[in-house]
Amino acid sequence: MTTLSISSLTCEYRVNPIGLDTTQPRFTWQLASENHYTMQSAYQIQVSRNENSFESSCLVWDSGHVQSEQSVLVVYEGQALLPRNRYFYRVKVWNQTGSPSPWSEIAFWEMGQLSPDDWSAKWITPHAASMDPEAEEAFYLRKTFTVRKAIRKATIYATSLGIYELELNGARVGDWEFTPGWTSYRHRLQVQTYEVTSLLQHGENHTIGAVLANGWYKGDLAWKNQRNIFGDVRALFLQLHIEYTDGTSEITVSDDSWRASFGPVRMSELYHGETYDANLELSEWSMSTYQDDNWCPVTVLDHSKDILVMQENEPSRITQHMKPITVIETPSGETVLDFGQNMVGKVHMRLELPVGTRLQLLHAEVLDQEGNFYIGNLRHAKQTVTYVCKGGGEEQYEPHFSFQGFRYVKVVGWPRDTAFDAERFTGHVIHTDMAASGTFECSHPLLNKLQQNIVWGQRGNFLDVPTDCPQRDERLGWTGDAQVFIRTAAFNYDVALFFTKWLRDLKADQHENGGVPFVIPDVLGPNDHSSSAWGDAAVICPWTMYQIYGDKRVLEEQYDSMKAWITYMRSQGENEYLWNTGFHFGDWLGLDAKEGSYVGATPRDLIATCFYAYSTSLFVKAAEVLERSEDVATYSELYERIVEGFTHEFLTPSGRLAAHTQTAHVLPLMFGLVKGSTRDRLAKMLAEYVVEQNNHLTTGFVGTPYLCHVLSENGYHDLAVKLVQQEDYPSWLYSIHKGATTIWEHWDGIKPDGSFWSDDMNSYNHYAYGSIGDWLYRVVAGLDSDDQQPGYKRIQFRPRPDSGLEYAKASLHSSYGKIRSEWKKEADGRVVYEFQLPPNTTGLATLRGATLAAASVNGQAAQTASGVLSAAESDGELRIELGSGTYSIIC
Ligand code: BGC
Repeated sequence: MTTLSISSLTCEYRVNPIGLDTTQPRFTWQLASENHYTMQSAYQIQVSRNENSFESSCLVWDSGHVQSEQSVLVVYEGQALLPRNRYFYRVKVWNQTGSPSPWSEIAFWEMGQLSPDDWSAKWITPHAASMDPEAEEAFYLRKTFTVRKAIRKATIYATSLGIYELELNGARVGDWEFTPGWTSYRHRLQVQTYEVTSLLQHGENHTIGAVLANGWYKGDLAWKNQRNIFGDVRALFLQLHIEYTDGTSEITVSDDSWRASFGPVRMSELYHGETYDANLELSEWSMSTYQDDNWCPVTVLDHSKDILVMQENEPSRITQHMKPITVIETPSGETVLDFGQNMVGKVHMRLELPVGTRLQLLHAEVLDQEGNFYIGNLRHAKQTVTYVCKGGGEEQYEPHFSFQGFRYVKVVGWPRDTAFDAERFTGHVIHTDMAASGTFECSHPLLNKLQQNIVWGQRGNFLDVPTDCPQRDERLGWTGDAQVFIRTAAFNYDVALFFTKWLRDLKADQHENGGVPFVIPDVLGPNDHSSSAWGDAAVICPWTMYQIYGDKRVLEEQYDSMKAWITYMRSQGENEYLWNTGFHFGDWLGLDAKEGSYVGATPRDLIATCFYAYSTSLFVKAAEVLERSEDVATYSELYERIVEGFTHEFLTPSGRLAAHTQTAHVLPLMFGLVKGSTRDRLAKMLAEYVVEQNNHLTTGFVGTPYLCHVLSENGYHDLAVKLVQQEDYPSWLYSIHKGATTIWEHWDGIKPDGSFWSDDMNSYNHYAYGSIGDWLYRVVAGLDSDDQQPGYKRIQFRPRPDSGLEYAKASLHSSYGKIRSEWKKEADGRVVYEFQLPPNTTGLATLRGATLAAASVNGQAAQTASGVLSAAESDGELRIELGSGTYSIIC
């Protein structure tokens, strides 16, 4: 009897997705087996048009028996896929001894619209003569239609210039927030797919409605007082497909038959909040009984359909409800709700107050030194929600088209004669609804809090694009921040689709000469682009996606963009192999900066040249993966020259670095630009610089992510441990003592005396320094991938029980299934390791200081234990090759 089975079928990373536009979707499945060392030796995939039959007449693809271990992202190679069609698939596998699994359960995916010809919808906007197109109010749009026969299936495809919400017959369609999300709107605009069969029935009088606000498209964006960056007219684009049970179908689209009105949303802006007057509500406006005689006509707008792409990543959703932990009466008499957590989203309220009551909610991340409400660091962002009550019973409201970054909410306008009731307020946490994937925990409570803060920082800033911060007048896709955090991000959440989408935007916005805008989507304009370590996101992010998900397609898609960035760097320097010109953010916010400067002391040309080399080396690896042998040769040669250029410019002949900062030493070590005795010398110098600071860091955005990695890898793990466990300024744990529940932008966002870093640039929710999470997972817990077999096909376990902790454990839901790496020190000095490898993977456990003689695996001798492929000692390490399964190793 085989114990082999298949679970967790996904198509393009999603369970039963609808609305795909890739014509070669990819399938991933997981194997389940009770046996150690279970590998897949072959698979078969069948795809049918018919949910109930996999008869050959129904199949659009039968892969046949394919001899292959691949179980992740297997490409569909069947008949051409048709728009809007649903396809059903199932998978069967054979293990290494040739035993088959049963067929998996049946999963499906559904295609969306595939070409501009699939659209008959028009872009519509309220008629300018009747409604001010520049208005801050949200527009309401509606249309009544008839369903002629019994329905088999109804699907809406919708998008907008601006952000929208849909209603159908009085019910909200979907639970997605801020649709259509944010992309490089000039080139790419996502279309959402909603299955609405259950909201419609045979009969006349159905109404579809949309509410449309400015959003990223034309609202305030960036700190330069800019509006209308992508366009100055909002518009809706919608197509409803109804398939009847008799096989016929009908389409209802956005066109000039729709009507428009203003309504209760008087103002809505992402940064500034929303003003809602419940007295202006259009009661039942999306029901067909509603009379829209006084609504205005709409006009058809000429706007491209070529930019339309089907939704690529997970939507943003409300993922958690938070209750205030307390109500604070501040010294200056303000009533402030404390949600106990710096979060991103909006506040839902349930009110029963007299008509006309004007309640205002102001949102802040921190209270000031005196304990008063503080919004200085929001700069121009108002984060103010105003609600005017209609009275006469309970009213429920939360803003529709605006999000706030906050822990504290100041309530203004609560009637004096009514007891304040904090229970009526609920914080709704919003972010891209990525699946949680990893956990890290250890015996140090503050490090666990740090891990939580990192996760909250990610939740707050992964709202459709990776933003720098979620509160002030910025919230932009800063490339540098994304680049430094991506690897940590991929431990905490499944970010495959999130970054696939964002990288397409990066590519779309990249300049012709290869330059990369500072922020993606680009809203800063043609002059703001191409700082080293920021533009390198073009190379580092796709490579990381490949490492984590084994996703070759990302590399293929981004390949030209990666190459263009290298070409750009190559054209910049005074000589081809050195990048010593132009503007760079440098080691942004490094503590060795000159008084009043944001830029750390590490020479910018050193940073630029190091990243130039690093990106080139990653590009060579990408070229190897994609078998572009000419590029491998050309760029390997270029890489060698850059390393020579770096050596010539920055290293003395005896191997001393000409720049005396921590970050300057970190980069060449991390990127492998120095070898042998030079490497040792640089590592020693770095350690000395850290010790000189009384075991503290001075690094900024560029050096921080790598600092501990470099120390651990070069014989100074004890120092890395001290750094991470430091509790006074500057350190990761310092902010926790100051009450942080997210990661701060500055090491001293709140100074030891309680005062703030200036209002000018002081976010309390900035994930960049959260990049230490990668070190906690990969080094302390020892859960790492292997570039030779990416996507965790092969797992590298390199736990470090010498981390000054009693135990550490990490887990990760990889494409193959759950991985665990744990260790625990016993009172008698033994170390117990636990490793879990999902089927169809193998791993190497490298245990420092352990010996074969003193090790047992699941209670047996290491060499003979079930699932152990080999075990040997070398260089003071015990190396155990493991097949899939769970292992308890005692040393
Ligand atoms: C952002 C950063 C960004 C930086 C550029 C700031 O305003 O918040 O995180 O990387 O500018 O140096």
